[in-house]
Amino acid sequence: MQHSSFEIQYKSFKDASELSEQDQFLINETRKIATAAYAPYSGFKVASLAQMENGTMVHGTNQENASYPIGLCAERVMLAAISTIAPQVEIKNICISYISDKQGSDVPIAPCGVCRQSLVEFESRFSGNIRLLLTGQSGEVFEFNSVSDLLPMAFKKNNLIS
Ligand code: THU
Repeated sequence: MQHSSFEIQYKSFKDASELSEQDQFLINETRKIATAAYAPYSGFKVASLAQMENGTMVHGTNQENASYPIGLCAERVMLAAISTIAPQVEIKNICISYISDKQGSDVPIAPCGVCRQSLVEFESRFSGNIRLLLTGQSGEVFEFNSVSDLLPMAFKKNNLIS
């Protein structure tokens, strides 16, 4: 028997002002986009914004439904848009932010498990890593070098028997 473990490394910044101007732009845009989410049931509006290798930006917001389980997370709305309009273009950076009707928004949130799996799939389509910034409307920013850092032992295409 052998004990094994995973270590997840990330950086935390007290405030967006500690990051580069390019990152601050990405963060500010993401924070604004959250206002446009369709989340009348949870009151929890999420925005995900990707910066592509060619400099373009593509975003997604969560889309809820009166039939609760069919609602979509912001991250997967964004990934579906990218995979539709620019399937060959690599994502360099993603920022995720939110606004809540019921609580403040000064601590970062991390993507749900399903979205982590989708983010890892997208990263595996290209050779490079997708850097991830997580933040609320203010306060701390967490930086992960790769979306895969958030999902150790992810299920990947090489796990499928061909
Ligand atoms: N949500 C996202 O959009 N992304 C996540 O990673 C976590 C949760 C949405 C789904 C739902 O519309 C609302 O947040 C509350 O769970």
